[in-house]
Amino acid sequence: MDKLITDINFISKSQNTENKEFSTTTTIDTGKSKKLYIESYGCAMNFSDSEIVSSILAKEGYDTTSNIKEADLIFLNTCSIREKAEQTIRNRLSQIKKQKRENKNLKIGVLGCMAERLKETLLEEEKMVDIVVGPDAYRSLPELIKDTDDNQKAVNVILSLEETYGDITPIRLNTNGVSAFISITRGCDNMCAFCVVPFTRGRERSRNPESIVNEAKDLVAKGYKEVTLLGQNVDSYLWYGGGAKKDFKNLSEEEQKNAVTFAQLLEIVAQVSPKLRVRFSTSHPKDIDDQVLYTIKKYDNICKNIHLPVQSGNSRVLKLMNRTYDRDWYISKVDKIRSILGEDCGITSDMIAGFCSETEEEHQDTLSIMKYTQYDFSYMFFYSERPGTLAHKKYEDDIPLEIKKRRLQEIIDLQSKISNDRNLLDNGKKHIVLVDGISKKDPNKIKGRNDQNKVVVFSKQDFQIGDYVEVLVESCTSGTLFGTPIKKLY
Ligand code: SAH
Ligand code: SF4
Ligand code: F3S
Repeated sequence: MDKLITDINFISKSQNTENKEFSTTTTIDTGKSKKLYIESYGCAMNFSDSEIVSSILAKEGYDTTSNIKEADLIFLNTCSIREKAEQTIRNRLSQIKKQKRENKNLKIGVLGCMAERLKETLLEEEKMVDIVVGPDAYRSLPELIKDTDDNQKAVNVILSLEETYGDITPIRLNTNGVSAFISITRGCDNMCAFCVVPFTRGRERSRNPESIVNEAKDLVAKGYKEVTLLGQNVDSYLWYGGGAKKDFKNLSEEEQKNAVTFAQLLEIVAQVSPKLRVRFSTSHPKDIDDQVLYTIKKYDNICKNIHLPVQSGNSRVLKLMNRTYDRDWYISKVDKIRSILGEDCGITSDMIAGFCSETEEEHQDTLSIMKYTQYDFSYMFFYSERPGTLAHKKYEDDIPLEIKKRRLQEIIDLQSKISNDRNLLDNGKKHIVLVDGISKKDPNKIKGRNDQNKVVVFSKQDFQIGDYVEVLVESCTSGTLFGTPIKKLY
């Protein structure tokens, strides 16, 4: 059952990566002498970070390769969100071990959240690993690699209050040339009881808006048609000149005057080009405000699709989870979204089944809130206790695995039905679809995404990847819409 659930949770569906366990890269051969092979696991932030790492190492004479056999350097950019995510990395490391035995000069690095969580102990537990680097320390990679020249081990897991890599132009990996991620915040200051991210990614900080807009302009110049603004909690973006997050009310008068909020950032990115679609993820329900909703409404190129993880539909469980909202508050936020952006606005979610002490009735509350909210799509998990988190310290992980799995299956089954019902509402309507590839099942068909990020498949004709096409949707499954193209718009 766990196969249905991936550790790539808040990646925009347009990136088409959520059903893979990991992503490697396309080869970028600029004739450099050394080769980096990098695999990314976990969320979109990690995929985005790998593009920064590739850029940092390009300056050190490394091309990024998709062929692990020719690598001088193998990096795994890792995730710690659930136990299974870490187990996947352990298994992968034991496969890579063989290659290291055959090639003594090969260096292996563990990057990302698992590196940050386990620090030096990772070197003791995984003898073939040479380098351990946390998410805020990628600028030190060139020195760390040099440090391993005489078979030393190298570690840097220092977290930062400032680092955003804002000045680094990422090398786009695994790209379809149409959609790209832009990181706008790093870290997380929320302390959801189940979550390891605040410990692995450190304090929340926002990136300079100028560097964000420049990155969007550069992508447009290179022919990209869609950007996803990324952060653990994008709606709490607040630029006041740099450094750890502060609340607007705690800024000085001068800082308040020059501050840029998420709604303002969204607006300036939308203004880069009317042909650039703008998405964003993730929205913590407590932070998405009316200004953001009115900004979405104002711009046709901001997609009407909000990832609004509920986690649980029960107020007692939400309190234990430290989500800071209760069931009624969440429902009123959904009502607000629908009243400002209409019934068509896509709303998607994350759900956790079997959190500590969750009763059968409380689980039913999750099912009933799903029925109320009518999520187009959800990422669904059973609770996995993470060392060091509030839940680990304060509560007992007391729901037996088979009950967690049964509750999760009920959530998955209900979501599948709701997704199908939501897709049926799209039948007979015209959708604007951004073409991003050829249909896997039929080479005569192409596929793309509509505003709500749903996959739409239709006949190829003369359309090209990157075209916006108006499509009349005529049928659907719970995962895909099928239609007839009307015309290319631009
Ligand atoms: N920042 C985002 C999500 C971060 S992690 C947010 O606040 O919504 C992505 C999802 O993984 C979470 O929304 C949650 O549903 C799930 N998750 C996090 N920790 C988990 C754990 N210990 N066990 C199971 N699922 C977990
Ligand atoms: Fe984790 Fe909560 Fe932060 Fe999301 S908002 S990353 S779930 S602590
Ligand atoms: Fe995983 Fe770290 Fe992302 S724990 S979900 S890779 S922030």
